[in-house]
Amino acid sequence: MSIEAVVFDAYGTLYDIQSVAAVTEDTFPGYGDLITQIWRIKQLEYSWLRSLMGRYESFAVVTRDSLAYTLRVLGLTYDREAFERIIEKYLHLELYPDAMAALGAMGERKLAILSNGSPDMLNALVRNAGLDRVLAATISVDANKVFKPSPPAYSLIETTLAIPPASVLFVSSNPWDACGAKAFGLNVAWIERVTPEAMALACVESETVAPLTLFKALRTQMDELGFAPDYRIRALSELPGIVGRA
Ligand code: LAC
Repeated sequence: MSIEAVVFDAYGTLYDIQSVAAVTEDTFPGYGDLITQIWRIKQLEYSWLRSLMGRYESFAVVTRDSLAYTLRVLGLTYDREAFERIIEKYLHLELYPDAMAALGAMGERKLAILSNGSPDMLNALVRNAGLDRVLAATISVDANKVFKPSPPAYSLIETTLAIPPASVLFVSSNPWDACGAKAFGLNVAWIERVTPEAMALACVESETVAPLTLFKALRTQMDELGFAPDYRIRALSELPGIVGRA
């Protein structure tokens, strides 16, 4: 396998979507964790439902609609300013601490993002974190009006970079995204940030299961879909070692 490009998922892979918890808790004290987890689960659910229905709306719309659902289902009242303050945080998510160093250690390979994020969301996110200096492209699925894991979303990598799937390493921490990329024919590195051992510990340590623990149980272990990644790593920092050998 000769890797010419390394393409990253954005939300959950390069950027920590849990970093919205500070602003959700500040806006709705005592509800921060619950809002953060329901919001992310619903955001992805809406992206899958809209793809299956053939009723695409941008990830910016899906992110706003899933937040509106979350606040409504919890019976929370809010004004526009509170809503916009939470949404704004999605343009300033924190990069994982090892992201910049990992990106900088990829040698001559082309680096890019392929994300469900809409162009306006992604361009702001990339600029705010300074990634525009290291990325050859920031690819939004919006160009094909369907979300990952649908194949036309992944086809945008070759369309944009003119590099075939066999020469691309796709990196995601989202199991459903790693499976979709593998099913499409990309080489895949999946980041397993939460292990079953850690999950077991989290469950026995407390009487109740925190919303974050439930989220981790739902969305952080490889799914039973029959598409195993080529590489299973624990952090972005392991990537240069793989790319150097590929
Ligand atoms: C992304 C998220 C949805 O596509 O995983 O960046």
